[in-house]
Amino acid sequence: MTVVNGYEQSDREEKLNILNLPSLEAEAKKIIPTGGFGYIVGGSEDEWTLQENTKAFNHAQIVPRALTDMENPSTETDVFGLHLKTPIMMAPTAAQGLAHSRGEAATAEGVAKVGGLMAQSTYSSTSITETAAAGNGAPQFFQLYMSKDWDFNESLLDEAVKAGVKAIILTVDATVDGYREEDIINNFQFPIPMANLTKFSEGDGKGKGIEEIYASAAQKISPDDVRRIADYTKLPVIVKGIQTPEDALLAIGAGASGIYVSNHGGRQLNGGPAAFDTLADIAKAVDHRVPVIFDSGVRRGSHVFKALASGADLVAMGRPVIYGLALGGAQGVQSVFEALNHELLIDMQLAGTKDIEAVKKAKLTHINY
Ligand code: FNR
Ligand code: LAC
Repeated sequence: MTVVNGYEQSDREEKLNILNLPSLEAEAKKIIPTGGFGYIVGGSEDEWTLQENTKAFNHAQIVPRALTDMENPSTETDVFGLHLKTPIMMAPTAAQGLAHSRGEAATAEGVAKVGGLMAQSTYSSTSITETAAAGNGAPQFFQLYMSKDWDFNESLLDEAVKAGVKAIILTVDATVDGYREEDIINNFQFPIPMANLTKFSEGDGKGKGIEEIYASAAQKISPDDVRRIADYTKLPVIVKGIQTPEDALLAIGAGASGIYVSNHGGRQLNGGPAAFDTLADIAKAVDHRVPVIFDSGVRRGSHVFKALASGADLVAMGRPVIYGLALGGAQGVQSVFEALNHELLIDMQLAGTKDIEAVKKAKLTHINY
C-alpha cells in the first residue's frame, strides 16, 4: 500500500482469477478508499441511465448459426490503420491513481500485453509521455478535455503528438459535471494531482472535486473545434459522447474521423437512453464513413458481440478495468481484458462467427420480453 496525501493506493501486482467482470466491483470496493471508490463507481442523480446501460443489452438477442464448419475463432481486427488482437479497448478514465500507485502506467502495460488499444485521459494521474512510454509502443489515443485556454490545449496536444498517440478523442458530453451524489455524500476531492494539469493556471486538480475541474474546462464546444484540433494535430479526431445520428453526422461534417457512442457510463446526463439503445441508429447513419467506438455498461462477452453486431468497430470499458487495476496492477488489467475476450471467443464459436468481420455481420433479434 502506498499512502499519498493520506490516500491509500493499492500496490498489488498479480494475475487475477476472474469469474466475471461484474464480480470485480465488490472486490475492488474492499481495497479502494471510500471517496475514490465512490467517484469511480458513481453515476449521476438516481443512476437510472447507469443501470439501464447494462440492462439494455437484453433488448437484443444474438441469432446463432450452426453447421458453420468453423473452429478457433479470432478476435483480431484492423481499425484506424491499427492491427489489434482484440476489439475491446480501454475507455479514457481519469485519475487512475485512485486505484493504484502506478496509475495509468500500469493500465498501459496491461493493455499492451493483450494487444489492445488504450485511451488516456487529460485528467490522468500519470503524464501523457509517461503513460505512452509505459505502453512500450502499443497504440494509444489521447482524450482531450478542451480547456477555455487554447494555449493549454495546444500544449497538451503537442505533448500527445510527440508521445506518438494515434488519434485524439474529443469528449463532448461533459461540459459540466453530472450530479454525482456519491461525491457529494463523500465530499470527494481528488487527493492526488492530475499530472497533465500541473502546467495549468487553474491548478493540478489536487484538493478539487470533479465539478470544479469541469468548470475550468470549456462549456461551449462547437463543430469548429473538431476541425481546429484535426488541423492542429494532423491526427484523426474521434468525437466521444455522441448519442444521436444527427450529432454523428454533424461531427463527421466537421472533419471527425471517428464517432464514439457513449453516455459516459451514466455519469453525465441521467434520464438519457442507455448507450446501447442508441448505437444501431447512429451506426446506420454513419454508414461506415468512419469507424464507430462504443462504450457504457459493457460487462460481458455477449455485450461486446452485440455492440459489434450493432455497428461498433471497437468496444470500450471503463470501471471493470479500474477495478482490475486496483486488484492486480498491470497484471490485473491484463486479466480483465483476457476474461472478457475469453467470453467473446466462446460467444463467437457458439454463434458460428469465425472472426470480427463475421460478428459485425451477425444477426440480432429483438424479442420483447
Ligand atoms: C470516466 N469517463 C471518462 N471519459 C472521458 O472522456 N474522460 C475522462 O477523463 C473520463 N473519466 C472517467 C473516470 C471514471 C472513474 C469513469 C468510471 C469514467 C467515462 C469513460 O470514458 C467511459 O465512457 C465509461 O467509463 C464507460 O462506462 P463503464 O464501462 O465504466 O460502464
Ligand atoms: C468523470 C470525468 C473525469 O467521468 O470524465 O469523472
